[in-house]
Amino acid sequence: MSTASSPFRLAARLDAVGFSDIVTIRNRIMKLRDAGAAVYQFEGGEPFLNTPEHIKEAMTRALSENKTRYAPSSGVPELRAAIAGKLRQRNRVPAFDKDVIVLNGGMQGLFGAFQCVLNRGDEVLVFSPYWTPIKDLIAGCEASIVLVPTNEARREGFAETLARHTTPRTRAIYFNTPQNPTGVVFTREETSAVARFARERDLVVFSDEAYEDLVYEGEHVSIASLEGMFERTISCFTLSKSYSMTGWRIGYAAAAEPWMTGLRKTTLYSTNGVSTPTQWAALAAISTPTDFFDGVRAEYRERRDLLVGGLNELGFACAPPAGAFYAFPEVSRISRDSRAAADSLLERAQVATVPGVVFGAHGESHLRFSFSTSLETIRDGLDSMRRQL
Ligand SMILES: Cc1ncc(COP(=O)(O)O)c(C=O)c1O
Repeated sequence: MSTASSPFRLAARLDAVGFSDIVTIRNRIMKLRDAGAAVYQFEGGEPFLNTPEHIKEAMTRALSENKTRYAPSSGVPELRAAIAGKLRQRNRVPAFDKDVIVLNGGMQGLFGAFQCVLNRGDEVLVFSPYWTPIKDLIAGCEASIVLVPTNEARREGFAETLARHTTPRTRAIYFNTPQNPTGVVFTREETSAVARFARERDLVVFSDEAYEDLVYEGEHVSIASLEGMFERTISCFTLSKSYSMTGWRIGYAAAAEPWMTGLRKTTLYSTNGVSTPTQWAALAAISTPTDFFDGVRAEYRERRDLLVGGLNELGFACAPPAGAFYAFPEVSRISRDSRAAADSLLERAQVATVPGVVFGAHGESHLRFSFSTSLETIRDGLDSMRRQL
């Protein structure tokens, strides 16, 4: 038991840091399944595909060649060089080896990025709905999140909307495209407007590009590729979604100084780098010819169209998401309270989703459905909703 005078008190800076609601939802689903119920699972956040064979083979090869010792904590030089090449060619980001660090997934990049920039009391502008852990990562720096409604920005203009939420404490913008949970892909014009605002107000940008390879309409624009942006942007990438490598825990970040020094410190004193054989597997992943993604995107697109078509037929208004693998329909037909809507869907139709409010107040009245699952699950889940709702 901890009391105010007890020495067993969690450090104050972790008090405001929460645990993901999604964990609670997963526990409920497990309970239902244990009780013998069939659950159609749409709540997940990972690729349904397996890690490609050539990546697994590269891991096996690294192990048999005893590439198992400490690597430089910023990453194996060959991998960093390949990442820098990829960033220049595919993202048009002017990064060189020295500007790249290999990390344990996108999460470690974001953790380090916020730690590098934010001081107590700083504010970060976050387009909302937003990926929930961002709030906790920012809270862990004793800074706070200021929500900027994406729909409002798209309707009324980015500069005007961002300006309305800016205060003297505003230090940075978190910019995620394609977005989780909405699947929004910001256009080049929108990205340029955000970049212009950051330059005019002298803000840092945290660019989260976890879903860069899963774009079905439009193009992925890396904000750091725009003029004058590389210096003020920390760009976070992951292999989790692009190569179905969520459990491998590998990603990377690109940044100029002083941010790279900060990222090296947060990495050195947390994980001291990424497992060495995993990095050799990542080199095989990064070296994959890009036409690999044509096949991957076709698989996701088929699932997206099936799910979105079905949801609209059921009366859940849902525009086809331009990227990522989530649909975010409006579900006030069931309830305006998204937690109640998710509960009702789970109980009545055994369909598991994530309540939109988990992604911030602007997500209320919506549910997040992942279409990263089998076509069979999507068909059966839709059938169950047709029967039960
Ligand atoms: C928007 C976004 N950013 C970053 C991540 C981090 O992914 P990981 O830590 O698995 O690389 C995720 C994972 O779900 C995500 O949805």
